[in-house]
Amino acid sequence: HRYCVIMCGGIGSRFWPYSRTDRPKQFIDFFGTGRSLLQMSYDRISPLVPKENIIIVTNSHYAPLVKEQLPELNDDQILLEPARRNTAPCIAWAAYHIAARDPQASMIVTPSDHLITRDAEFEKSIRLGFNFVEKHDALLTLGIKPTRPETGYGYIQIGQPVEDDVLKVKTFTEKPDLDLAKVFVESGEFFWNSGIFLWSVKSILEALHNYAPDLTSTFDHGLAAFGTPEENAFIQREFPGCVNISIDYAVMERASNVYVECVDFGWSDLGTWSALYENSPKNRDSNVVQNCQVLAYNSSGNIFAVPGNKLVVVNGLHDYVVADAGDVLLVCPKSEEQHIKQYVNDVKLSY
Ligand code: GDD
Ligand code: MG
Repeated sequence: HRYCVIMCGGIGSRFWPYSRTDRPKQFIDFFGTGRSLLQMSYDRISPLVPKENIIIVTNSHYAPLVKEQLPELNDDQILLEPARRNTAPCIAWAAYHIAARDPQASMIVTPSDHLITRDAEFEKSIRLGFNFVEKHDALLTLGIKPTRPETGYGYIQIGQPVEDDVLKVKTFTEKPDLDLAKVFVESGEFFWNSGIFLWSVKSILEALHNYAPDLTSTFDHGLAAFGTPEENAFIQREFPGCVNISIDYAVMERASNVYVECVDFGWSDLGTWSALYENSPKNRDSNVVQNCQVLAYNSSGNIFAVPGNKLVVVNGLHDYVVADAGDVLLVCPKSEEQHIKQYVNDVKLSY
């Protein structure tokens, strides 16, 4: 049977202060459609796997938000991590959880904070991916044609074609530095890792045993607890001791059975204010106005995210981010947004 794991425990710090530790970006309705990025991820996957097989993995802190946004889920579909340990422990737990129910299962693992604009294409690609991993012992990632030397992504070097749009992966490099990213993009041999993965539970468990044995020895220790009422107590006790590492570094860079399906379904990571600006409808002055009221004179290229009842009046402002979170107001040129993580740290240290 097919399962979906939605990873929903990140903190989205580059969208500070709009995205806060209390309410990270996956829970925000960025497009004013009434659906947050998490809800959009859920809607997108719903036609592809049985609803009872959709599992959300998040930090226990966000349990109320997940339940509020996805009231149709049963409690056993929400896995609550007692500590933030990045995506490898998150995926390992989900795999053990599913294996206890259905050792022959296949699964898609998807982030909760991306934008995908072409749903029909997405569906087609995911069906193809499921069919592939149900036939092969494969760790399949969905690859996106790169358009710039972005350093926040994983880079996939493609090898021999296998079938349909699936190719063997030669190398996987997570978050290269800028010089390397430039070489990768110019070579034409690399795709971006979308962060969406498909595999059988059997293949990912085997890969975790090979490349993250500390993690699997912890989980193997409590094997009998998975799928029983003891599972949560076991996780409460043992999960905080897991290594803090992403699946990309832990497994994808090292495994030899990695494949890529090259996809084109209007994917955007929405990782930064500029990415959100590019993907949002603009008004006549090319301003993007997120859930707020703005009166703009001689101002263009800005993105305003000022929730609440505040009216924003600006004159002579170009290419800025204006983001208000009640107690914090950020005004920063879009071109300087890579420093926002630093501002968050400075704020933590000084206020
Ligand atoms: N449950 C849980 N627990 N989810 C988490 C955790 C965690 O500790 N940490 C992150 N997540 C969720 C995030 O909410 C997000 O939906 C997803 O996992 C990916 O985590 P990010 O922190 O956003 O990863 P990234 O963007 O730096 O890198 C990944 O995505 C890129 C594409 O967007 C990698 O897979 C890259 O290779 C890839 O290119
Ligand atoms: Mg991300």
